[in-house]
Amino acid sequence: MVDILPIRNIGHVELWVGNAKQAAYYYRKAFGFSQVAYAGPETGLRDRASYVLRQHKITLVLTTPLSSEHPINAHLKKHGDGVRDISFSCDDADACFALAIERGAEVAEDPHDVTDAHGTMRRAAIKTYGDTIHSFISSKGYEGPFLPGYEEALIEEQGVGLLKIDHIVGNVEEGKMQRWCDFYTSVLGFEQFLSFDDKDISTEFTALRSKVMTSPNKVVKFPINEPAAGRKKSQIQEYIEFYEGAGAQHIALLTEDEVKTVAALRARGVEFLDVPDSYYQAVWDRVGVIEENREEIRRERVLVDRDDKGYLLQLFTKPVEDRPTLFFEIIQRRGSQSFGKGNFRALFESIEREQERRGNL
Ligand code: FE2
Repeated sequence: MVDILPIRNIGHVELWVGNAKQAAYYYRKAFGFSQVAYAGPETGLRDRASYVLRQHKITLVLTTPLSSEHPINAHLKKHGDGVRDISFSCDDADACFALAIERGAEVAEDPHDVTDAHGTMRRAAIKTYGDTIHSFISSKGYEGPFLPGYEEALIEEQGVGLLKIDHIVGNVEEGKMQRWCDFYTSVLGFEQFLSFDDKDISTEFTALRSKVMTSPNKVVKFPINEPAAGRKKSQIQEYIEFYEGAGAQHIALLTEDEVKTVAALRARGVEFLDVPDSYYQAVWDRVGVIEENREEIRRERVLVDRDDKGYLLQLFTKPVEDRPTLFFEIIQRRGSQSFGKGNFRALFESIEREQERRGNL
């Protein structure tokens, strides 16, 4: 048996949304993604429309069904807009799928070809937490703008310096975290990524447990959260209630200039979590000397954290839907390979203020 599933990287993330046309406009105008491809009735796809957005190595696909009969509607009704597929690009989709199934994964899609005038891809998929799936896609030699079935539909936008996906966090039900960590270990050959964040996290009110799973090449990082009992409702529990199940909580996007990227996103209308002024009274004692300008960091309300290998800069958007579910993180790494545990308290207290405003605390 092959020990390691030959996954190279996250290929794309597909969101199922109520109105992909408007969502695509939002991600273009607010986050600076360019549109690169489209599939829908005009390209011969009768039952849905998909927009492909890209910024450097980040690819998002936004898909909406075109009739009440379409199975995507059940997902939308239950979850609202959210992540359906965290796709892996690999050399041999059949081999990845067969190995995953042999190791106990559930089938989401059996291996099949998708072909158009530019070539063929091989696609298969397994289920992960909630109604989320991982597709395996091998499209070696394919020369179209994205994947078979899509046509070029270029709308260029000025990017904001978002480079690639750093990590994607899954929220799972209370008591299920270890089960899903075991899934990533036994099915996908992932390892637990030991970092200094790897402890239970709590504030005065909320609590959660979190572990980070990583692919053997350390390229793919999936922290898994579960709610824990606290004085009031965990923010992870709030997510699970509003998403009506487990799902992707946030997608962290890497930048090489946190302050500049956050400033550009704010100017474009992206809403970030409020960081209290008190945060900046304590942060410099905690993180010490950094290369960035402290006043700019404070102005953009960026969060800073340090571990034994360096530091990181990060900030979290508010949820990008009306349901308090999926949000984004903007992260810059300066040596640190962890996830900002030192900020969790400051961050969660900020999230809790939002949660309280929604009457869910
Ligand atoms: Fe994160």
